[in-house]
Amino acid sequence: MNEQLELLKQAKSVLEMNDQGSYTVPAEGPYPHQWLWDSCFIAIGQRHYDIDRAQTEILHLLSGQWHNGMLPNIVMAPGYRRDHNIWRSWINPNAPDHVDTTGITQPPMLAEAIYRIGQKLSLPERRTWYKKTFPALLAFHQWLHSERDPHQEGLVLLLHPWESGLDNTPPWMRGLRDHQLPVWIRVVDKLRLDVLINLFRRDTHFIPAVQRMSNLDALVLFSTQRRLRRKGYDTNRILDHSLFAIEDLNFNCILIRADKLLTKIASTIKIDLPEDLLTQMKKTEDALEKLWDPYSNQYYSRHFTTHKLIKEPSIATLLPLYAGCISKERATVLVKHLENRHIFGPAYPVPTVPINSSWFKEHGYWQGPVWANMNWLIIDGLKRNGFKDHALALAESTIEMVAKGGFREYFSPLDGTPAGAHNFSWTAALTIDLLK
Ligand code: GLC
Repeated sequence: MNEQLELLKQAKSVLEMNDQGSYTVPAEGPYPHQWLWDSCFIAIGQRHYDIDRAQTEILHLLSGQWHNGMLPNIVMAPGYRRDHNIWRSWINPNAPDHVDTTGITQPPMLAEAIYRIGQKLSLPERRTWYKKTFPALLAFHQWLHSERDPHQEGLVLLLHPWESGLDNTPPWMRGLRDHQLPVWIRVVDKLRLDVLINLFRRDTHFIPAVQRMSNLDALVLFSTQRRLRRKGYDTNRILDHSLFAIEDLNFNCILIRADKLLTKIASTIKIDLPEDLLTQMKKTEDALEKLWDPYSNQYYSRHFTTHKLIKEPSIATLLPLYAGCISKERATVLVKHLENRHIFGPAYPVPTVPINSSWFKEHGYWQGPVWANMNWLIIDGLKRNGFKDHALALAESTIEMVAKGGFREYFSPLDGTPAGAHNFSWTAALTIDLLK
């Protein structure tokens, strides 16, 4: 009990250390701005000890919202000229005037954060909170279901792996390497000039390079961002020219859950959601089954244009548990993968790539390590699908891993050794939530 109290105290002090007043950075050093899904997870932790601060976190995030409803993955801190020049988001007329942002989004955890903050408030206060945030939340969901689903087929598309939140996850890296490797990157690779890239990388100044994505992968991501910038971050123009887009499994599962929470929020404040949005939401939910592969018994992301599944297993395959709309039969199959120690069930679950995958690297960023936010999503999904014991066991092993290794960015699934950034905010925030 005392140990738990001590862990809570330490987690709170990590969040206080990273607190910039009205937003929290993911970690001092490598991450100097406000990130979209980070702040949602952070607010889910903060609400347990300072509800006002949790609300401020979300309101600051909303200050970066674009006029078309998009929420950018980063709201920039002032004074970062290099990031400002890399993104140049002002080239799109929808970008806000008073704050610098990127031109792409991130998984829609916003509804979950708003809803969970609401749960901590009395009914009248909850209504006030929901009314205040509802217009921005609604606009974000409408933007996702329209601009990012141009053919109205149900699944929303992403244009950059940074939007998935799982930067170098195998399905994206395979897709990008197969389809979009510019000639100059191949030359850099051949001549082994990629080491020069270290001069420009912020993350490898703070974190050992073996724990990050390779320079080649970093270049591919950077060049993909430049392509989006050339088209002014306008989805239609990007699709007209490059046609590389993925219907990302992780993102769509989070959206399906977020749509449900948006509906609950709307009903609490007695607002009817627009009919066309309700139709789009239903389509997205129904379309999830298109990502199921009966041969390997897994869900996958798929290419937007060809509709071909990208059969590279990753942690996303478990996220339909969080989506909350799959059959008991499918959920049971996913739980079996989770129990298998050669797949998703090693000593410290859940690895971001199955242990038996050729991509697996123990400390390799999104290609192996355990991340607290993914565990949190899976725990929540297990509970809602009726796997209470599995949820409890995973919560316990997550807490144990953090208690042993500290509030690090990620951990080895084999022995729990920590890696990545120190004092990582969402690890701290979600530990608080799991302990509560
Ligand atoms: C990395 C992660 C992303 C996260 C960001 C800030 O880019 O891949 O998911 O939001 O860092 O922590």
